[in-house]
Amino acid sequence: MEKYIVEGGRPLYGHIEIQSAKNAVLPLLAASVLTDETVVIHKCPRIRDVLNMIGILEELGCGTRFDGDDLYIDSSAAANHEIPAALAKELRSSVFMLGSVIARFGRARIAYPGGCDIGLRPIDLHLSGLRRLGVAIAEDGGYIDCVCEKPCGAEVLLDCPSVGATENLILASARAEGTTVIRNAAREPEIVDLQNFINRMGGKVKGAGGAVVVVEGVRKLHGAAYTPMPDRIEAGTFLIAAAMCGGKLAIGNANADHIASLLHKLREISCKIRVQDDKIYIECGGKRLSPKLVETSPYPGFPTDLQAPMTALACICDGATVIVENLFETRFKHVPELIRMGADITVRGRTALVRGVRSLKGADVIAGDLRGGAALTLAAISAEGESTVTDLGYIDRGYSEFEYKLRGAGARIRRVRV
Ligand code: EPZ
Repeated sequence: MEKYIVEGGRPLYGHIEIQSAKNAVLPLLAASVLTDETVVIHKCPRIRDVLNMIGILEELGCGTRFDGDDLYIDSSAAANHEIPAALAKELRSSVFMLGSVIARFGRARIAYPGGCDIGLRPIDLHLSGLRRLGVAIAEDGGYIDCVCEKPCGAEVLLDCPSVGATENLILASARAEGTTVIRNAAREPEIVDLQNFINRMGGKVKGAGGAVVVVEGVRKLHGAAYTPMPDRIEAGTFLIAAAMCGGKLAIGNANADHIASLLHKLREISCKIRVQDDKIYIECGGKRLSPKLVETSPYPGFPTDLQAPMTALACICDGATVIVENLFETRFKHVPELIRMGADITVRGRTALVRGVRSLKGADVIAGDLRGGAALTLAAISAEGESTVTDLGYIDRGYSEFEYKLRGAGARIRRVRV
């Protein structure tokens, strides 16, 4: 196990370049199984979730190799329809391998997916949608067995705009017989990336980014090369780091439109934000006004993946902030650790009342999930005194070179083995 040792209290200055989006790359990797030709994912981040997904592809029989940051995937020899339990438990997004494996092989077997412990994370919408496409699904002993010679296009209405279910159904229907209409689809930008990639492979998907996605099944998909969108959550994490530490940061390879809800909150707090092309400039110093209310909701609302970093920022704003986590049941695991650093937070169910304090104090804290670990790291680099953040495995799932990028902006942070 590894931990950060942090000496907090220093402002951040300089430039941070954003990685390709974890939550865009993962469905693109699943889509690579839809063709028996080679696909290339440019600027592919070597984060743990991506490496685990590559492990799943290799278990299916795909050949993979990195050439610099370009990931080549050759699925011509893929023949195994069973996604290994160990990897499926490690990775929530393994569940949207279901759609592409069924589309490719006519059957799929997967253990119930794992992922961060941020809530129940049911997959009922994935399974009910696949059944609408004609997939026969049996669930026994923690495994899901799917059989379907050829998915047939259908109308699917999602009870809630699930990102993964939308992606799974796009993948399952891309080569289906006929047309599929997905209503109440999730509108996240990562789904637009999946649409663009499948269309570059010869698919016919339209409407992604809106609430209705239409997928016209095609007989065959060919290889393609693609550069994923920038990681809006990583960009937001570093913007919040600047708001907490003070200073002046330029965030490169960022799409400000993807995090408009965060930029609005940071301006409310009185950060100076300027956007120019794919760069976001942030300057913060002096008083941080409380944003009063932060409510997570599906895109384009405030992203649940930035709730934990925003909660850390609210701890040192002037005044009280109410944080409401509407998407996941247990996404406040970072709160007890922030309280150890001197934060004043009261949680009732999905609501946290944060009363701002002048500054947090260094402490030894433990990460409990990916975004909570990032939030605790931001708290540590902004706090007075020394902190440690233990169990970096969570952070390594989604952030490449996290401490390297923070150190490059002036933070005193280093990784050591425990
Ligand atoms: C994706 O997870 C992201 N992961 C999550 O990012 C993100 O927090 C989430 O979308 C919401 O934006 C990836 O893209 C790999 P959902 P996903 O299905 O697809 C309920 C991170 O930190 N639901 O949109 O699992 C569910 O309980 C990760 O990068 C059902 O009820 O999220 C939740 O309340 C964490 N039934 C809500 O929908 C279902 O079948 C949103 O879940 C599926 C979901």
